[in-house]
Amino acid sequence: MRAVCWHGANDVRVETVPDPTLLNPRDAIIKVTATTICGSDLHIYDGYIPSMKAGDIIGHEFMGEVVEIGKEVKQLKIGDRVVVSSIIGCGHCFFCQGQMWSLCDNSNPNGLMQEPLFGHGTSAIFGYSHLFGGLAGSQAQYVRVPFADFGCLKVPHDLPEEKLLPISDAFPTGYMAADLCDIKPGDIVAVWGCGPVGQFAIRSAYLLGAERVIAIDKVPERLQLAKKSGAETINFSEIDAGEALNEMTGGRGPDACIDAVGMESHGMGPMGLYDKVAQAVKLETDRPHVLRQMIVACRKGGTLAVMGVYAGFVDKIPMGAAFNKGLTIRMGQMFGQKYMPRLLDHVMKGEIDPSNVFTHTLSLEETKQGYEMFKNKTDNCVKVLLKP
Ligand SMILES: NC(=O)c1ccc[n+]([C@@H]2O[C@H](COP(=O)([O-])OP(=O)(O)OC[C@H]3O[C@@H](n4cnc5c(N)ncnc54)[C@H](O)[C@@H]3O)[C@@H](O)[C@H]2O)c1
Ligand SMILES: [Zn+2]
Ligand SMILES: [Zn+2]
Repeated sequence: MRAVCWHGANDVRVETVPDPTLLNPRDAIIKVTATTICGSDLHIYDGYIPSMKAGDIIGHEFMGEVVEIGKEVKQLKIGDRVVVSSIIGCGHCFFCQGQMWSLCDNSNPNGLMQEPLFGHGTSAIFGYSHLFGGLAGSQAQYVRVPFADFGCLKVPHDLPEEKLLPISDAFPTGYMAADLCDIKPGDIVAVWGCGPVGQFAIRSAYLLGAERVIAIDKVPERLQLAKKSGAETINFSEIDAGEALNEMTGGRGPDACIDAVGMESHGMGPMGLYDKVAQAVKLETDRPHVLRQMIVACRKGGTLAVMGVYAGFVDKIPMGAAFNKGLTIRMGQMFGQKYMPRLLDHVMKGEIDPSNVFTHTLSLEETKQGYEMFKNKTDNCVKVLLKP
């Protein structure tokens, strides 16, 4: 089959590789009909995710058709159309039973590798480095899906792929961000980052009852898309986002702050420069500009929901501010299987239309071009749909 293989920073190649086969009785093989590039893939593309090996197949947001099932798969049959959760859960451990799917004890065969760094192993993620299981990713014609009964959500045949594909990853991530904010009537939610995850966070915050959503980015077409969803916007390249938020909330600060940016945030001023240098010389692995800004901007007693990915160590976090303001900080890789059924429901009822984040459709052979466009935000690119 053809698949997108990582060969180093900024080097992805479409290559011919062996087809996947069933390895366990609870596996399914999915013929990928649509996949995409996530902001998390950019962290890999930019070379910031440790434990990648040359030749690894990447990608994790996908949907397709069931073409083979193991003999213990009970909920699926050949020919089913499914959206697949990017994170993999066994369905039976303490964490899966508690709906904390990305913390699964059993899906990551390399969980031990994480222990020195994280203390405990977390779940596997498709195509997301050896630390996260070393599983082949979805930017490919076929994927092996472990614990398929839990990871695959059956979807109707009559809805277009653009409306369904984000249910695999970007939509539950944005939705979980809003859910973690514990939104109450009257709440103001600020969202840093207007990429696909930020767009879903904005819409989900309204869906869950936010009174106002304020979105922050510097890319004009992304801010425009946020406006279309009803958000007020701040262009952080023109004004200081922290000061603007304070003014827009009468000096009180937003009730909840969502980080939909993560470890590659663009910083302004001296701290921005500090992060760039510190990351380049490996003094810190991640650039936590947004995290710092959220801690200072959030109202006292407010909540931070961090869904932007962090991989290692950050520096100069204003812990004193977080502590003295009594902030609650919640975060994590998303709990896909917990949210996917209700998101499909929202889509089928027409309460959210995920399709308008897609700006480009490319063939798998054109993936490199897709990465470049998505990374550099050229040609107004917000999200790319790849057709294997
Ligand atoms: N937790 C999870 O399970 C999960 C799942 C999917 C994606 N993610 C993460 O979510 C983040 C966003 O993903 P995406 O697909 O939307 O990516 P993206 O790269 O398209 O979006 C990031 C956006 O942040 C903006 N930005 C950069 N610096 C900023 C700053 N200082 N202030 C405000 N905005 C800033 C960029 O201009 C860009 O529009 C990534 O870190 C990704 O890894 C996490
Ligand atoms: Zn993702
Ligand atoms: Zn589990």
